Amino acid sequence: MSFETIWFIRCALIYLGTGVLLGISMAIQPNWMLYIKPTHAHVNLLGFMAMFIYGVAYHVIPRFRGKALFSNKLARYHLILANVALVGMAFSFPLRFTLGAMGNYSLALFGTIQVVAVGMFIVNAWKTLD
Ligand code: HEM
Ligand code: HEM
Repeated sequence: MSFETIWFIRCALIYLGTGVLLGISMAIQPNWMLYIKPTHAHVNLLGFMAMFIYGVAYHVIPRFRGKALFSNKLARYHLILANVALVGMAFSFPLRFTLGAMGNYSLALFGTIQVVAVGMFIVNAWKTLD
């Protein structure tokens, strides 16, 4: 298994743990919902679901296709950027309520980095399938 596969799956497990804790804290303390619902949703969906898929995809796509991954370097940058962007987004969602416009800029910045990271996955998976 590659470094990227191992660490995408490990990150996914960490985000799953974090995501369900955020979920249960909202259930216990409903007045937190406004602040942490989008963080909960994205930590679970971009963190657990997407990162698990990335990790498994980097392992199985080259094997199913019978050739090497298009770029290991791109996968490494993807791993780093997806995590930086998700953590940034996770904090930016609630910060919009305390920092106002700054929180929005922060979300836009980390959201854009997330789009770039997703783009890296799309290119790498697509080119490997070529
Ligand atoms: C212990 C596990 C979990 C608990 C206690 C929990 C709890 C909650 C609560 C209280 C809400 C707010 C519901 C509302 O708006 O009234 C919520 C929303 C949400 N949860 Fe969870 N959750 C859990 C796990 C998950 C997982 C594993 C995922 C995804 C893989 C997930 C995805 C979502 C999403 C996407 C929303 C937002 C839904 C919307 O837009 O209305 N949750 N969750
Ligand atoms: C670049 C990546 C993404 C960005 C920048 C982004 C941004 C946002 C923003 C700004 C909201 C509104 C939050 C609010 O209510 O204040 C939102 C909501 C939501 N997004 Fe995303 N999103 C991204 C990717 C995704 C992906 C990949 C999924 C699903 C797999 C997803 C699922 C959702 C859901 C379920 C909600 C509603 C959450 C709620 O009820 O609070 N998002 N997203």
